[in-house]
Amino acid sequence: MARPTYRIAPSILSADFARLGEEVRSVIDAGADWIHFDVMDNHYVPNLTFGPMVCQALRKHSVTADGRKVPIDVHLMVQPVDALAQAFAKSGADIVTFHPDASTHVDRTLQLIKAEGCQAGLVFNPAAPIDVLEWVLDKVDVVLLMSVNPGFGGQSFIDSALRKCERVRKLIESSGRDIRLEVDGGIKVDNIRRVADAGADTFVAGSAIFGQPDYKAVIDAMRAQLA
Ligand code: DX5
Ligand code: ZN
Repeated sequence: MARPTYRIAPSILSADFARLGEEVRSVIDAGADWIHFDVMDNHYVPNLTFGPMVCQALRKHSVTADGRKVPIDVHLMVQPVDALAQAFAKSGADIVTFHPDASTHVDRTLQLIKAEGCQAGLVFNPAAPIDVLEWVLDKVDVVLLMSVNPGFGGQSFIDSALRKCERVRKLIESSGRDIRLEVDGGIKVDNIRRVADAGADTFVAGSAIFGQPDYKAVIDAMRAQLA
């Protein structure tokens, strides 16, 4: 595979919710490539976070100092999916990913997201099979592999995600399509290289970045590992 352009996607799940706009601006100044936005409904996952209105409010903060828009990567951990996926698309999301097991009609949900002008992606839990990809890879822009069980930040990386990552990388390569392979959960400076070696090109990190006072130092250290 050609050398990938790596993307680092800080998850604002671990940011200070009382100062979210400022946190988004700080992490963008620190070098964030995407802003990862974890939507939890206390139904599909046992936690509750934020909705489309918060996404809309953060839109004006997701811009670099020189005016470049930083994509908002909305990770839906909700069931049902369709109405919220559309609401987020209309609220400034650039990428919308969802768990196929949370949607009754996966192909339709992907079409809905793309019809709104967003990139669409599927998310796979640690124990979830990936066979659905065979049938919808032509409609997918992002594959997001969970390396923790969804619902909370600060959990430990589950190693089987590496094997799954290798497998999905092969599928993507054989499709010939430009599909991002993103991994989410437990990613830190000391394991990001292993995740990249397994084929990932996009890395979500919440607690590793927002748990430290100097966001730029962490993102720089991650990039040094990837270099
Ligand atoms: C978990 C979320 C993750 C979470 C990652 O359900 O999808 O995006 O914020 O947090 P860390 O990096 O702390 O494992
Ligand atoms: Zn996430």
